[in-house]
Formats: sequence, structure tokens, C-alpha cells
Amino acid sequence: MRTTTVDVGQLPASSSDDAPLVERLVAIVNDAYAAGEVGMWRDGAARVTSQGMRALIAAGEIVHAGIDGRTVGCVHLRRVDATTWAFGMLATDPAVQGGGIGRTLVDAAESIAQSRGASRMQLELLVPTAQEQASKAALGAWYARRGYAITTTRPFALDYPEIAGHLAVECEYQVWHRSLAASA
Ligand SMILES: CC(C)(COP(=O)(O)OP(=O)(O)OC[C@H]1O[C@@H](n2cnc3c(N)ncnc32)[C@H](O)[C@@H]1OP(=O)(O)O)[C@@H](O)C(=O)NCCC(=O)NCCS
Repeated sequence: MRTTTVDVGQLPASSSDDAPLVERLVAIVNDAYAAGEVGMWRDGAARVTSQGMRALIAAGEIVHAGIDGRTVGCVHLRRVDATTWAFGMLATDPAVQGGGIGRTLVDAAESIAQSRGASRMQLELLVPTAQEQASKAALGAWYARRGYAITTTRPFALDYPEIAGHLAVECEYQVWHRSLAASA
């Protein structure tokens, strides 16, 4: 019988030199976001460039998921301050979506942050201001099920004017937090 092995962990900084890995991660992130944010961008703006991904890996900030040696997802994890860490750029290969890889990546991000002293996790969700985007509503419901709650909602164009010019519709971004202390 064939066994499936899912490996999740932080990429070593040296992986930033692994060009095929960098390109695979860039493709997964940009394809996943293009699908999840369809209609939100005027010109199909990419979520991350190869250079940007290399820099995040070199900083030790990418948590990677692989199945039987094949890269299937990632999440960007960073320290905000002494008590708060944040995750973002969560993405999985459409071929495995709905199979628990996203949940495994968030579990890993939370437990890595907790092991480094975080008591709070943060994430940001970009949503159209005027109409509901089904993919974003599903994400929000999932984060709420995990114990996250919206702490701030800000007009995207106010804080990110240089990127907001690429939006096709007016958007706001929600900042969500969850206490990690309860699951310690
Ligand atoms: C968000 C994303 C990473 C989730 O990855 P995934 O591998 O599908 O995640 P999982 O299979 O672990 O599912 C996560 C949750 O969504 C639920 N879910 C998965 N597919 C679903 C679907 N089609 N409809 C409703 N819920 C669904 C799962 O039940 C799970 O909830 P649970 O933990 O309460 O059971 C993936 O959909 C993606 O890459 N989206 C595009 C990029 C994006 O929007 N990133 C997040 C920006 S903040």
C-alpha cells in the first residue's frame, strides 16, 4: 500500500539558492491568489516575485509543505514584536486544496511562533469593500473557527497607496488576531 508523507517545516536560509524550489513556490502563491482574488486586481498583479520569495526564504520566514517530496504549499511567518507574530501569503497547490495542507501550515506557523515566545498571532485579509467575495468569506469563516477575530479594518488605499492603484475594486484590509496562550 502506498503511504503519503506530508512534511511541514521552515525552509533553511540556504534554500533561497534553490531556483526550481523558488519558482515552484512563486507559482503556487501567485496561482492561488489569482484564483482567490479573481476580479480584485486590474492587471493580474502578482502576489510575490522570485526576488521577493528568495529574500523571504533567506530570512528564514517561509514555512514549506511537501507531499512525497513535492512542494504543495507555503506560508510566510514573521515576528512583529516581542509578543506578536504574523502569518501571510498562505497558499496551497489547487490539486491538494481541501485536503488539510492549509490547516497543517497554519498549525505549524502557530506552533513555531509559540515556541519562540509569541502569545498572539496576526493575519491580514484583503476584501472588496462593497461586495462579498465568496473565497474571502470562506477564509474569514475558517479563521473565525480557528479562534481569530477582526481587531481592525482599514481602507487599503490609505495604507498602501502604491499598490492600491492596481486594484480593480475598492478594498479594505482586515487585521485578525488570535491569542496563542489558550492552546499553550
Ligand atoms: C486558503 C488556502 C491556503 C487553504 O488551503 P487548503 O489546503 O485548502 O486548506 P485545508 O484543506 O486545510 O482547509 C482549510 C479549511 O477550509 C475548509 N475548506 C477547504 N476547502 C473548502 C471549500 N471548498 N469550501 C468550504 N470550506 C473549505 C476546510 O474544511 C478547513 O476548515 P476546518 O479546518 O475548519 O476543517 C487555499 O485555499 C489557498 O491557497 N487559497 C488562495 C490563497 C489565499 O486566499 N490565501 C489566504 C489569504 S489570507
